[in-house]
Amino acid sequence: MTHTIAVEDADISFTCEDGETILVAAERAGYTMPYSCRKGVCASCEGFLSKGDVKQRSKEIAGPSGKVLFCRATAKSDLTIRPRRIQRHDPSARKKIQARVFRMSRPADDVAILQLRFPASIRAKFKAGQYLRIRTPDGDERSFSMANPPQESDGVQLHIRHVPGGAFSEKVLASLRLDDKLEVEVPFGDFHLREEDQARYVFVATGTGFAPLKSMLDDMIRRRLNREVRFYWGGRREADLYLAETCEKWAKRYPWFTFIPVLSEADASWKGRRGLVHAAVLEDLTDLSGRHVYACGNPMMIEAARNEFQTRGGLPNDHFYADAFIPSGSADTEPAPVLQATG
Ligand SMILES: Cc1cc2nc3c(=O)[nH]c(=O)nc-3n(C[C@H](O)[C@H](O)[C@H](O)COP(=O)(O)OP(=O)(O)OC[C@H]3O[C@@H](n4cnc5c(N)ncnc54)[C@H](O)[C@@H]3O)c2cc1C
Ligand code: FES
Repeated sequence: MTHTIAVEDADISFTCEDGETILVAAERAGYTMPYSCRKGVCASCEGFLSKGDVKQRSKEIAGPSGKVLFCRATAKSDLTIRPRRIQRHDPSARKKIQARVFRMSRPADDVAILQLRFPASIRAKFKAGQYLRIRTPDGDERSFSMANPPQESDGVQLHIRHVPGGAFSEKVLASLRLDDKLEVEVPFGDFHLREEDQARYVFVATGTGFAPLKSMLDDMIRRRLNREVRFYWGGRREADLYLAETCEKWAKRYPWFTFIPVLSEADASWKGRRGLVHAAVLEDLTDLSGRHVYACGNPMMIEAARNEFQTRGGLPNDHFYADAFIPSGSADTEPAPVLQATG
């Protein structure tokens, strides 16, 4: 059965088919709302249900309620909703592409860099910071962020951390050969630079959380967008910062870019910063009220950064943007949200 979804205080309405989530219905109608994991874990898509009934996994929720995850909720009646943001987007920009394995390298024991090329004449339009979904042989999907800038639209570069037992990062990657084909769907995500802010940026990553930030930095370099960026990259050991040399080179060449590597389990030879990466930000910048923070990687780091940057550093809630690298496999249990909605 089809239901109509109206957006409060906006001249927007669209239809939602049976079993379709509100987020997918909005996208099909040409709108985008905030989201990240699309798995009901990160709470980026959380919004207000003013009127009507939805089903969210096994739970029935009746409006008014502020706890609806639009990536999981399906309509049980006509609805009125209030997402944190809704704007037009072009549904045809998202494409399924048979990509070819072009190059693979291993900059660290547990990180692979995978370069995929699209067939000639096919280009993917994406914003620096967005991610794609790769189809696995069992029909499931995994999310990985593009590390290349959008100007390189004939393929993608992915930074993939090895997850023990991981269906993709262990099993599929181990058997991949050059020229093998992988089906990808691109782009997804709301994690991209808000340039209109004229901001001084703080970028924070753990491990392969560097990937989308690298895309943003590469994009800024190409477009000569010389805004101040302080990039804090955290890991346990030096090897976790697998492209530190690139960052050091950028720091020498571009006066607007500062690179601060931070290790939590460094050996005695490490001369740099020690501790947790979000704590290093607060040591350096006690007042974050005029900054815009982009954080990516470990969900626990992101949760701690969001809470402490706001409570101790005075960072406004809507100046914090994040993509938490939560598992993107199909296990659709009912986990507690690990994050509050991001700005
Ligand atoms: C928006 C988004 C963007 C992402 N971008 C990247 C990226 O650029 N690079 C990258 O390396 N990862 C990224 N991730 C995380 C990645 O999608 C998952 O780690 C993915 O599940 C790995 O797939 P897999 O098949 O190897 O492991 P799976 O088969 O999915 O997982 C195997 C086991 O490991 C656990 N597990 C999986 N991933 C993690 C994790 N990250 N932390 C802790 N336990 C885990 C699972 O719960 C499961 O028990 C992103 C996630 C999201 C939501
Ligand atoms: S996008 Fe809905 S919970 Fe993450």
